[in-house]
Amino acid sequence: MILPMPYSPALFCHLNLLLLALLPAFALAQTSTNGTIELNSSLTATDNATPPSWLSPGEDFAFGFRKIDEKSDQFLLSIWYNKIPDRTIVWFADGGNAVPRGSRVQLSADRGLVLSDPEGKQLWNSGTISGQVSRAFFNDTGNFQLLSSDSTKLWESFDYPTDTLLPTQIMQTEGALYSRRSQISFSKGRFQLRLLKDGNLVLNTREILTDYAYKAYYSSETFDSSNASNSGYQVLFDGSGYMHILRRNGDRVTLTPNRALPTTEYYHRATLNVDGVFVQSYHPKSFTGTPNWSSIWREPDNICLDVPADLGSGACGYNSLCSLNADGRSVCECAVGYSLVDPDDKYGNCKPNFSVSCDDYNGQRANEGLYELLQINNANWPTSDYERLEGISDQECRDSCLSDCFCAAVVYGGPTCWKKKLPLSFGRQGSSEKSIVLIKVKKGEHTSQSPEGSSRKDDHGTFILVGSVLLGSSVFFNFVIIGASCLGFLGIYLKNPLKTRPDNDIVETNLRSFTYQELSEATKGFTEVLGSGSFGTVYKGMVQISTSKTLIAAKKLARVTQETDNEFKTEVNAIALTHHKNLVRLVGFCEEGENRLLVYEYMVNGSLSDFVFGEVKPSWTQRVHIALGIARGLAYLHEECNTQIIHCDIKPQNILLDEYYNARISDFGLAKFLMLDQSRTKTAIRGTKGYVAPEWFRSTPVTVKVDVYSFGVMLLEIICCRRNVENFGNEGGGEILTDWIWDCYQQGRLNDAVENDEEVMLIEWTNVERLVMVGMWCIQEDPSLRPTMREVTLMLEGVVDVPQPPCPSSFYSK
Ligand SMILES: *[C@@H]1O[C@H](CO)[C@@H](O)[C@H](O)[C@H]1NC(C)=O
Ligand SMILES: *[C@@H]1O[C@H](CO)[C@@H](O)[C@H](O)[C@H]1NC(C)=O
Ligand SMILES: *[C@@H]1O[C@H](CO)[C@@H](O)[C@H](O)[C@H]1NC(C)=O
Ligand SMILES: *[C@@H]1O[C@H](CO)[C@@H](O)[C@H](O)[C@H]1NC(C)=O
Ligand SMILES: *[C@@H]1O[C@H](CO)[C@@H](O)[C@H](O)[C@H]1NC(C)=O
Ligand SMILES: *[C@@H]1O[C@H](CO)[C@@H](O)[C@H](O)[C@H]1NC(C)=O
Repeated sequence: MILPMPYSPALFCHLNLLLLALLPAFALAQTSTNGTIELNSSLTATDNATPPSWLSPGEDFAFGFRKIDEKSDQFLLSIWYNKIPDRTIVWFADGGNAVPRGSRVQLSADRGLVLSDPEGKQLWNSGTISGQVSRAFFNDTGNFQLLSSDSTKLWESFDYPTDTLLPTQIMQTEGALYSRRSQISFSKGRFQLRLLKDGNLVLNTREILTDYAYKAYYSSETFDSSNASNSGYQVLFDGSGYMHILRRNGDRVTLTPNRALPTTEYYHRATLNVDGVFVQSYHPKSFTGTPNWSSIWREPDNICLDVPADLGSGACGYNSLCSLNADGRSVCECAVGYSLVDPDDKYGNCKPNFSVSCDDYNGQRANEGLYELLQINNANWPTSDYERLEGISDQECRDSCLSDCFCAAVVYGGPTCWKKKLPLSFGRQGSSEKSIVLIKVKKGEHTSQSPEGSSRKDDHGTFILVGSVLLGSSVFFNFVIIGASCLGFLGIYLKNPLKTRPDNDIVETNLRSFTYQELSEATKGFTEVLGSGSFGTVYKGMVQISTSKTLIAAKKLARVTQETDNEFKTEVNAIALTHHKNLVRLVGFCEEGENRLLVYEYMVNGSLSDFVFGEVKPSWTQRVHIALGIARGLAYLHEECNTQIIHCDIKPQNILLDEYYNARISDFGLAKFLMLDQSRTKTAIRGTKGYVAPEWFRSTPVTVKVDVYSFGVMLLEIICCRRNVENFGNEGGGEILTDWIWDCYQQGRLNDAVENDEEVMLIEWTNVERLVMVGMWCIQEDPSLRPTMREVTLMLEGVVDVPQPPCPSSFYSK
């Protein structure tokens, strides 16, 4: 099997699917292992479905050849987690140099592990400290050891860490971890974690060629100048998942600030990531779906700001700008008009896309027409200044840069004009940067740049605007709602009917039109019912799409009247034009006689309702991932698709989960069919406090905010894994979740809301609180106080702050 890198997002889904399918076979193929590898054993690099490998006794780890990049035929001799879909690599040989297909590793008596190319030429060997190797032992801790005949350890992989430390591993004084160069290049990158001779554990950037270490951006402060025996000398990752620095006098400084989950049930690792952040993370050993690594702690908090502006380029390469994404990972982006020197090295240097030459400047006056200045908001390169001009105007500052061939950018703040020269270093972008940077580019050069580049920069500006307005008042919400009033009770309107409606003609979309007969056969005569709702019944089926058989869910719409019949076509068209990874995709439809069916892709993991209210509580990470997915899908329906779609029936039963446990919103665009029904059963809905926004029962227009309300209720349910109304229809039944959480929140006892959730207890409280606060904003009775779904996503991602929510029902009497 071809193994792309675990972090390549485009390939990841594919990889998971393959891995999940192959895992059992994989385990079977290599069961007879006790971790002992005989002398002269060897492995050859090929891309079999099962990577050629030796396994540890419990099969937790594999040692062997991994194909590292889909595009090249290169392999890495490495150790990886064998049982998790990610197959995270934790160690690699030969400084991360990749080797060609057909390369071989053999266990030899005198040279230890010997890696040779297909011609038999030695590329690397582990060496042995002394003595003859008689066998190797691969411990379930992930440690690969070479042993002599009397079981003396001659060499072990734990003594030669690469970018990762594992429980029971010790790093000695002067030991170091290096970040990888990129996700697919394992050679030593620009970041280092070192335990210095003086006893400090430090993180620093380095000059790659000479290994010169720049100023540290983290230090454990375990050097004691007054008494050397109090200084640190070992980093110990203990067997229970805690990291410590041991002092020579026997004291230990524990680095892991939070409680570590038990190592019997969770894998732990500490890795110096590609972006220079050192992270201790955990992963459940047994799981459903596709869990991922979650972090327990990381250093530093904000690498963009924390790398000291001294020598070097900073957290990103030269001429690059560093910003943090929602997960706290840094993102490096070349300045406008610049591009990566090595497109695969995202943390590397950027070069101007145009030639920079003083020859363009004739005499003292420049050929000003050749260059222009482009503005970058909320950015700065705090170093790289070469001139400071005082008391000049904005225009004079610009002119001064345009006419100066050394000037690469200017920062203008008040009457001060800072001129900056190449290369620009320590660039950063974020709300804390108040300066306006103008970067000089050759005219016409930046136009070839991808449009998303510049629009992303603009977005960044609006995030900050949104954030500050949110904090300020609710005026923003009021403002937004003016633009979002709804064309009445059906809950759907067209932003641009002429452009997006191809004349009620379904054929113009690339949907498949099924005959009723076809669907009847596909569903074995409509026998397997998946569910039924107000709009009709859903059947499971299987159809042939191009060359493969695909599972489908066919919705047979009830009550298609003459009146709704026209709507059927327009709605199908509107749905067909939607495309988002958090929406269930419409595959086709059937329109024949009385029959109206919609054919959707089948979602293997059922509904959110079964998932969060089931016996086993899904992991917090998974739940947050799902909540964010729903928010993104709704934001898309409300604001991004051609035809604005208000769902009108958001509830856990209508959120389905695909094979990767991504949330997929279903039944959108069906509001018309639903509404006809709901008008009949309105009184029944009024009686229960479920997901329905209060304005349904008032004469106020229905807007996108009804979905925001339902989302809010559902978010709180996801946080607590509890239904909003526990004993549905039971007089005097359980307490209503939304009311109860509000009380918990107000009384500062949110931990009651997530009690017995071991994983949640580990997470920073602010995260849980933030989600609860977002939920509270969404369920405000006054629709104008509710945020838009776009704002919700920003708040969930932590891009904007969440202000204190008022009591949800303060505007109306309860
Ligand atoms: C797991 O996390 C990595 C980054 O930490 C990400 O690239 C990858 O897509 C994640 N996988 C899943 C299944 O979420
Ligand atoms: C492991 O199995 C091999 C045979 O495959 C045997 O020679 C060896 O003694 C076993 N080692 C242990 C530690 O059980
Ligand atoms: C390993 O190979 C060497 C050289 O080919 C040979 O002398 C030795 O007997 C072999 N050892 C074992 C245990 O097969
Ligand atoms: C594996 O390593 C652990 C931790 O160092 C050690 O306690 C254990 O004895 C080792 N297992 C074997 C079979 O040597
Ligand atoms: C250094 O510290 C150790 C234990 O903390 C103490 O026993 C020793 O006397 C100290 N030495 C000096 C020179 O202060
Ligand atoms: C710079 O040039 C590269 C090709 O050399 C191109 O792919 C990229 O889009 C250009 N970027 C900008 C910002 O002009």
